[in-house]
Amino acid sequence: MTTDIPTPKAPAPDIVRCAYMELVVTDLKKSREFYVDLLGLVVTEETETETYLRTFEEFIHHNLVLRQGPVAAVAALAYRVRSPEEIDRAVAFYTELGCRVERRKDGFVRGIGDAVRVQDPLGFPVEYFYEVEHVERLAWRYELHTPGALVRLDHFNLVTPDVPRAAKHLVDLGFRVTEDIEDGEGTVYAAWMRRKPAVHDTAMTGGDGPRMHHVAFATHEKHNIIAICDKMGALRVSDRIERGPGRHGVSNAFHLYILDPDGHRVEIYTQDTGPVTRTTRSSRGTSTTTSVATGGATRSSRAGTPRRRRCSTSTVTPCRRWSARTPVRWP
Ligand SMILES: [Fe+2]
Ligand SMILES: [Fe+2]
Repeated sequence: MTTDIPTPKAPAPDIVRCAYMELVVTDLKKSREFYVDLLGLVVTEETETETYLRTFEEFIHHNLVLRQGPVAAVAALAYRVRSPEEIDRAVAFYTELGCRVERRKDGFVRGIGDAVRVQDPLGFPVEYFYEVEHVERLAWRYELHTPGALVRLDHFNLVTPDVPRAAKHLVDLGFRVTEDIEDGEGTVYAAWMRRKPAVHDTAMTGGDGPRMHHVAFATHEKHNIIAICDKMGALRVSDRIERGPGRHGVSNAFHLYILDPDGHRVEIYTQDTGPVTRTTRSSRGTSTTTSVATGGATRSSRAGTPRRRRCSTSTVTPCRRWSARTPVRWP
């Protein structure tokens, strides 16, 4: 039995959106082949040990950092905040919670200025930043787009043992729950939460955490996802497709789950419902929805969650954690 995470008196930082993930990879060359040659992410900058990648509609320096390291892990999940002052707020918010907090005026990675990294009360390594190098937005550079072009970072999906506890903490941080699922006993075991106007910036899935379930990139349309499947088939790497292509119940998005060379799971995601509904789906066979369209009134709909279908749990990525005895320095 875990205890609730207290709500700090200090105001939460004003989060704009999920912005990037830093992954530790064990073979940078192989990972680069996966993310650049196969998926077509754009290289902003690279060194012997790091590759900085972005999507076609992105105007900030990167959405994904690949860093060579001995053990595959998530080094950080990063959110952009609305103003430089929000970094002070993030420091105060997490300091009050007794979390480990490290601020670097010059950032932790290339392209990012003043930033703070914390190990949040759920154990996740989270970064907040405002200052960032702007780069060319390639949204209209169609001569560069591939048939499976990844246009945005859409969301993180994280694994944590107590989803209601995690969701309450994210609500304290200013997130809104857009959808959740409860089991036969009425216990919520998955929740989708947003800051930007979409279904989610992050989702929490019940399980042995803190770990990353997947990081998701968006395409414009579902034919782009089919093109990725075709390319993977042609290159004889379709064994990296773990699930899909298919249509989700929650979010109504079209999806594909694939695994990178280290087993980090990547979702390709498109055409979700947007932020208009607040839905609770139940394994008991009903679904309740409040929506803008109904003026916030609750209405029941047909059975919303058929059966619980999952990706393998053996490919869930551990998050890098600080040890109390041997504090890890961010590289
Ligand atoms: Fe997802
Ligand atoms: Fe999904």
